[in-house]
Amino acid sequence: MTKKITKAVFPVAGLGTRFLPATKAIAKEMLPVVDKPLIQYAVEEAVAAGIDTMVFITSRSKNAITDHFDKAYELEKELESKNKADLLKLLKDIVPPNVSYVFIRQAEALGLGHAVYCARPVIGDEPFAVILADDMVEDGERGCMAQMVELYEQKQTSILGVERINPADTASYGIVKTAASSEKSARIEVIVEKPKPEVAPSNLAVVGRYILTPAIFDKLKNTGRGAGGEIQLTDAIADLLNDEPVLAYEFEGTRYDCGSKLGFLIANVEMALLHSELKADFSSYLKDLIKSDKL
Ligand code: UTP
Repeated sequence: MTKKITKAVFPVAGLGTRFLPATKAIAKEMLPVVDKPLIQYAVEEAVAAGIDTMVFITSRSKNAITDHFDKAYELEKELESKNKADLLKLLKDIVPPNVSYVFIRQAEALGLGHAVYCARPVIGDEPFAVILADDMVEDGERGCMAQMVELYEQKQTSILGVERINPADTASYGIVKTAASSEKSARIEVIVEKPKPEVAPSNLAVVGRYILTPAIFDKLKNTGRGAGGEIQLTDAIADLLNDEPVLAYEFEGTRYDCGSKLGFLIANVEMALLHSELKADFSSYLKDLIKSDKL
């Protein structure tokens, strides 16, 4: 029987050290790109893919994500009494009526693999999506996860979203080598976490979008600490390759590495240039800036 992808896991319990001090009390996934936190873009991408259960792996002291997806009762009443219908709609749209939110605490930041394993009691025996909100993908259409779910419906196998990166940057990513294929997706032969450029099997990097079969949980259970002393999802996927096919899929769209300061700034500039309220004024500001002696 084919199973549908109805659940997405959002690991948001990382320390976010590259964004300190901004991330001392809030998760980096709450940092806004223009006017929306990263995590909201990620949840909207999941909803566009037909997913209705959002599972957040959070850490203590970072409760803003839970609050963001809760009903803001007082604020809604206040906006209602002031007849601010547009703002009220904006708030209500954060929590669509058919979507459920589940929060699980990761007691210690032991790594992405451990964070995903924490979702096991909620996911059970179903295939599921994993979205890392700090990798933001804009495709101008249905969204990256919708593309992957469509591919899953044809192939019924685990799929990793991948992108060609600068070969000098392999040590920041999980890197895959694939079998030759004329399609946009290809079977993964090798996956390794953060290889140095001189030993990297390719420059095809895994960038924060996964569809995984539940077989990954038994693999994660037995995965020890890997690169950086963390329990790595990549190592469990390497183990999964021994038992079942896993595909790499080069998705359509632009990926912004919002876990780095430069990527985050680029995302803000490019999303502002797409924003209906801002694009005209912001692009004329940028044109003036280029002509000025500040650059
Ligand atoms: P990163 O590798 O980007 O680490 O995690 P980080 O701690 O968030 O950020 P830096 O490198 O210190 O700045 C990749 C994803 O995995 C989650 C993070 O929240 C992020 O979405 N994660 C990582 C967890 O949920 N738990 C962990 O133990 C580690």
